[in-house]
This record gives sequence, C-alpha cells and structure tokens, in this order.
Amino acid sequence: MRVVIIGGGYVGLVSGTCLAALGADVTVVENNPARFDMLCAGKMPVYEPGLEELSAKMRGTRRLNFVSHVSAAPAADIICIAVGTPARHGDGHADLSHVFAAVEQAAQHLQQPAIFMTKSTVPVGTGRRIAALLAELRPELAVHVASNPEFLREGAAIGDFMRPDRIIIGTDDPHAAGMLARIYAPLIKAGVPLLQTSLEGAELIKYAANGFLAMKIAFVNEMADLCERIGADIAEVARGIGMDTRIGQQFLQAGPGFGGSCFPKDTLALMRIAQDAGAPSRLIETVVSVNDTRKSAMASRVIAACGNAVRGKRIAVLGLTFKANTDDIRESPAMSLVQRLMDEGAHVQVFDPAGMRHARFQLSSGVKFHNSAMDALQGAHAAVFATEWEELSLVTPAQLQSTMAGRVVVDLRNMLEQDAFVRSGFAYHGIGRPSQPLSHDPKSVSISSAQIRLTA
Ligand code: UGA
Repeated sequence: MRVVIIGGGYVGLVSGTCLAALGADVTVVENNPARFDMLCAGKMPVYEPGLEELSAKMRGTRRLNFVSHVSAAPAADIICIAVGTPARHGDGHADLSHVFAAVEQAAQHLQQPAIFMTKSTVPVGTGRRIAALLAELRPELAVHVASNPEFLREGAAIGDFMRPDRIIIGTDDPHAAGMLARIYAPLIKAGVPLLQTSLEGAELIKYAANGFLAMKIAFVNEMADLCERIGADIAEVARGIGMDTRIGQQFLQAGPGFGGSCFPKDTLALMRIAQDAGAPSRLIETVVSVNDTRKSAMASRVIAACGNAVRGKRIAVLGLTFKANTDDIRESPAMSLVQRLMDEGAHVQVFDPAGMRHARFQLSSGVKFHNSAMDALQGAHAAVFATEWEELSLVTPAQLQSTMAGRVVVDLRNMLEQDAFVRSGFAYHGIGRPSQPLSHDPKSVSISSAQIRLTA
C-alpha cells in the first residue's frame, strides 16, 4: 500500500513512521526547507521519544521517504492530510487554509484514483468540503474522502499509534474503508477494534474525545478546589471515583489546568462547531472558561504561598512544558505563571529538561534560565514544581535545604512526597491536598472475609 502524507509535522511524522513500521510504503511531503533538510539528515524537527530511532530504522527499510514537494511524491493509493489546523485568530475556529492548500496541490499532481484521508483535526463537514473540491478539480478521477482521526499524546505517541484503543475510519465508501483498514491490518489482527462511521461521525469523535477528556480534567480540578476547602485529599477522591469502571482512573490527575496544542484549541473549536450548528455545548463552553481561569489562578496561589507578595523575591519555577516528556510549551500553565510572577516583580529562575529552547523566545528578558534544577533553586525563597518531569519529582527536601534561601514549596502537580517536605520544615502547598498530611495511609487495603465481623 502506497501512502503519501502531506505535512512532516508531529502527526505526519509519527503516523508516517508508524505506518511504515506496519508495512506501508510511505512518502512524507515536507515543504519547509529547514525542516526538510533536518529530515534528510536523519533529525526529527519535533520532540518525541523514540521517533528518531524508529524513523531511521524505517528509512533503512526504504519504506519511509521524505520529499519537499508533492510533485516529487510517487503515485499513491492513499493521500493523508496531516497539516496543522491552528485556532484562527480572533474567533477560535480551526484555520483550514493549510488543509485546503494541501488538497489542491495534491489534486493537481494526482496520477490515479486515490483516497484522501484526513488525519489533521478538522471541523465537522470538512471532509464533505474536500470531496466537493476534489470533484471540481479532478472530475475525471474516482477520488474518495475518509476521516481517520489520530489519538496521539505527545510524549507517548508511538505507543499510542502502535497500541491504540481503537481505529476510527469515517467514510461512506466501502472501498475506501477497506483500503484504509488494510494499512492497519497488523493492528486489527492483533485485536485493536475498528469502528467504521460516517465522515461527520469520525470528525466529531476526535473533538468529542478531546472535549470529554478536557471535561474530566476540569471536573477533577474543581473537586480539588473543593477538597482544599473541606479538608479532603483529591488523590483519594479521584481514586475513589475512578474505581468505578464507568468513570475510570485516567485523566483524573488534578493540576494547574490543561494546556498543549490540542485540548485548548480543540475545546474552543468544538464550542464554535456546536454554536454554529445551533446546538451550543454549555458544558464545553464552561470547560474552556473554567480552565482559562484556573491557569491564571495558579500565580495567585504562588503569591499567596509567598505571604501575598513576591516583589523582589527569588522564585524557582521547575518545569515549563505543558506536561512531561515533551518540549512543547504551547498554552502551558507554567509559562503564564512565570510571566505573571515577573509582572508582579519577582526574580524568576527557571529550569526545564526539554522546553528551555522554546521558552527563551517567549518569556520576558528578565527570566533567568538555568541548566539544572539545582542551579535554578539557588537562593530561592520559593520553589514551584509546575511540570511533572520524573527527574524533578526525585528532588529531595535535603537538596532544597542546601540550595534554597526560603522554605516554601508549591507543588502544582502533586508530584512530591508531601510528608517528607513537611517533616523537613517546608511550607508545602499542593493541589487539593490538606496542608498537613492525613494521619492514615491513603493506599486502599483489601480485607479478607475472615477479617469482617458480621454483626447480627
Ligand atoms: C491529547 C489527547 O490525550 C490525545 O488523545 C490527542 O490525540 C491529542 O491531544 C491531540 O488532539 O492531538 P496531548 O495534548 O499530547 O494529547 O496531551 P495529554 O496527555 O492529553 O494532556 C493534555 C493536558 O491535560 C496537559 O496539560 C496535561 O497536563 C493535562 N492533564 C492530563 C491533566 O491536567 N490531568 C490529567 O489527568 C491528564
């Protein structure tokens, strides 16, 4: 099966590399010269653990190739659109200009009937618009359109592609559905469920999945705020509700609010799609505004923990990316936090294992960038743990004692062992946790029937 992927960005590269690993002959079209040169040199222009290695291996098999223009791509059975769909300035709608430009270019160079498959996250109805455009541009060719949304998490994308919960193929054409199913044959054989839907259904599944997960996070964050008021621990509450299999344990980690290139953009787009369709989603509208408010409230937490004033104080912020295992700082709660602390007159010292290169361009000039967590902590009045990198979660109270001037720890990810820091004399501020640790062991225990004394 010959697949041409238009767009050598995050989705295009992960999908192209993994489809090659599944046996397809893949050509990725990347028209940005700098990125194309990197790809040809065996370097990945995006950060994703394991991608460079797998891509090198696939290039070795000759099943993965890069070209700089669609005219240089070989004839294909499937043309996959994997270009960016950023939020359009001003209104939150997805910007589809790259998608339609890619379709037009590919149509121009089309040599035979093919299936156009969208992997980019596109608003409901885009597939039909692509089909109409193709019918206009190349009426002589039988071209079908399908939606095959991706569910890749940054930092875990290869595993998500190779071991997905499901494969969604949205098309009305049985031939197109069969062809797409063939590129995933090894996964389907291994038991991954395949769901065939309408074009519109598949397009909405992508937004609705992200919207639902975002809603779960917004909910657990609100419960965390409530826990702080009533003296409960959100870890226990999340665990307790997640043990209900209808709810599930995942995406119940309370924190500083969701960020990244997907949830903020896709919830906003879903909100607009629903409004335009005359079926506004009050839930998603609320999730968007609750999350925005939460992200800006994180700075107020830090300021409160520092005695309601940070002017002139040194504050270490550890972790800048929107989550661990990525270099992505887009919509990261840590980034807006650093900026607000600077605006309030604090001296901010930062460290991130992967996000510093991008952060330097975005943060105001007074921010001090350090090469290690220990350097960033030097002389700090307060330490803020903003991203759950494993190496940051291993920082010990003794290390903070030997570097910091103050004793304030703000843990926006509940990634530290609270008791250890409290015992070492730190004022510890987590999310949805009582400021003093609970006296009992929060782990669940199993009790055998012999231990239960029944009373008559
Ligand atoms: C998300 C989805 O998880 C993917 O399935 C989807 O394919 C992708 O968007 C996309 O649309 O392309 P990603 O943005 O990489 O993936 O990151 P997530 O791991 O989902 O995290 C998103 C945000 O939610 C992060 O800011 C994270 O810190 C936050 N989060 C996540 C929480 O605050 N609590 C949780 O329990 C989980």
